Amino acid sequence: MIDQTTIQSILETAHVEEVIGDFVSLKKRGANYLGLCPFHNEKTPSFSVSPTRGIYKCFGCGKAGNVVNFVMEHEHYSYPEALKYLAKRYSIDIEEEEMTPEKQQELDERESLFAANTFVNQYFIRNLFESEEGKAIGLSYFKQRDFRESTIREFGLGYAHESWDDYTKEALKNGFKKEVLIKTGLTIEKDGKLFDRFRGRVMFPIHNLTGTVIGFGARILSSDKSKAKYLNSPESEIYFKSKVLYGIYFARTAIVKQNNCYLVEGYTDVISLHQAGIQNVVSSSGTSLTIDQIKLIKRYTPNITILYDGDPAGIKASFRGIDLILEQGLNVKVVLFPEGEDPDSYAKSHRTSETEEFITKTAVDFLTFKTNLLLNETSGDPSGRATLIKEIVQSISLIPDPINRTVYIQECSVVMGMPEQTLMNELNKLVRNRFGKKNDIEPENLIHEEPKQLLESQLEADPLSIRFQENEIMRWVLTYGNHLITFKDEENGNEETISVAAYFVSDLEEDQLKFENPIYNKIFDEYKKATLNGQTVSESFFANHPDKEIAQTTILLITSPYHLSENWEKNQIFVKLESDELKQNAIEILMAFKLRLIGKQLKEIAKKMQHVTDEAEIFVLQQQHFELKKLEILIAKELNRPLNY
Ligand code: CTP
Ligand code: MN
Repeated sequence: MIDQTTIQSILETAHVEEVIGDFVSLKKRGANYLGLCPFHNEKTPSFSVSPTRGIYKCFGCGKAGNVVNFVMEHEHYSYPEALKYLAKRYSIDIEEEEMTPEKQQELDERESLFAANTFVNQYFIRNLFESEEGKAIGLSYFKQRDFRESTIREFGLGYAHESWDDYTKEALKNGFKKEVLIKTGLTIEKDGKLFDRFRGRVMFPIHNLTGTVIGFGARILSSDKSKAKYLNSPESEIYFKSKVLYGIYFARTAIVKQNNCYLVEGYTDVISLHQAGIQNVVSSSGTSLTIDQIKLIKRYTPNITILYDGDPAGIKASFRGIDLILEQGLNVKVVLFPEGEDPDSYAKSHRTSETEEFITKTAVDFLTFKTNLLLNETSGDPSGRATLIKEIVQSISLIPDPINRTVYIQECSVVMGMPEQTLMNELNKLVRNRFGKKNDIEPENLIHEEPKQLLESQLEADPLSIRFQENEIMRWVLTYGNHLITFKDEENGNEETISVAAYFVSDLEEDQLKFENPIYNKIFDEYKKATLNGQTVSESFFANHPDKEIAQTTILLITSPYHLSENWEKNQIFVKLESDELKQNAIEILMAFKLRLIGKQLKEIAKKMQHVTDEAEIFVLQQQHFELKKLEILIAKELNRPLNY
């Protein structure tokens, strides 16, 4: 846990344009900076960074946020990870809370495993490029596979000498503890002696998301069939096979850019495609795809394309993977390489443009893929056809989104020549069963023919609704809260100057009014605190607030197209309201809001009166109604406005 003071000082120190400038080339445009959006592909810049507000916003794809959001989004960090990154960027010491000795020890232990792996990896690299054995056997092997030196260096490939304990000795000599080496799996202890696990193999380090080595894959160079072609590190405290994807560190940025992730079978497929310039590629490295691996991809893109070689075993194995991907709500396509080819060999014998074209042209939707394959198998056999339809509808039923399911059912109906309703019935049965099993039937997951209910967002668009009013008030206060307005006391002629925010706070407080949206109440509480302490808080204070709800809501409000549109940027006049005008506006906005609240209360009272029978109670309600009505007319008159709700 990072403590609040540290978070505050990070947020105060970090400059949004500097942090983003590390990743995006920004050009100054007036008060703001402009660049190409890193979150979607574009040729003309629509990504705007505002140093004064401490926020960014892309007018192309709509992504917006503060400096922390940017690091989270761009680097795929969690909130604390992003804060740590910023702290490091600005050399701020992090005060961590609640670090128990046990936790510290655990952390130290993980660190020592990382360090050992990194050290031995460096040793493997030196072997490959500097030792006679490494050059003659390892390096020449990679060269023969057409790996360029820059590629070998980028992926940190290396060589383990043909020896019993070569690197273990080296690591011990350099102060690494025997227990640590054993825990990484690099070293094996047998009969009190220590041995290298990897001997006479080329080494593929496996990196985590931040680029640290957590394990190794090691390929044998002889064609000795009695030995496994690849030997891998065992699982350890820092290496969980089911959670890791080989190549993810080198692929993540490209995956986001391309909004697609290629999934291949092996280490060499990843490296060859990457070398060819196709970099959005990862591998589950021989093991079958797991849910954790799919979730990892899902952090970067909802689209996966499986690139498999065309042998029947591989194809069948891909079915299970496809279903898992569908279940996670991702879109999946499949590319089958010609028999005898894998992405590695294909990329080597073709130009990059040809490989790219092959992939995009051959990629088919999972539905088409499965249908074609099974159709071939069951040609001319009606009972086989029925099983096939069941199999496909079964896959479709795994898709979480009902609308996507409907689309696939329609497509399936066309491909298979089956009535849509029949397929739909089958589908609904499967969905119902699945939720039934989980003991919580969610009716909205069944596909209905009835029209959908009105969405909340549509309701909020109604300018007469309280929510709409609230949004407007909040937006206005965030923009002008710091401006000062002056009131004159009619009786003694004294003048009082307060901030717009303070005026709103005291006025709402006096009438004991609260917002419907709890986040707005939180924002007002912050204003109240600031007013009491004599501080001013700006919109960027809220946009960078440690409470993520406050930060997100603020950013949403102040960047909604209405507000930060080009028009707004041009219409600087809007900002240059004279103090008197500002005061008049503040008064009117508050009154209009109160009018809405009163209108709502009047309706509620009227509704209550219909159900109440007790005379005394009716009388009380009538009194309330009367008082409110008076107030309403008063305000409406002052506002010079008809009662039109
Ligand atoms: N694999 C493994 N252990 C094995 C064989 C394979 O872990 N004994 C994993 C490796 O991650 C390998 C992947 O399965 O990269 C695919 O296997 P394969 O197609 O046989 O290897 P390639 O990656 O094609 O390697 P190469 O081209 O060097 O033969
Ligand atoms: Mn291969």
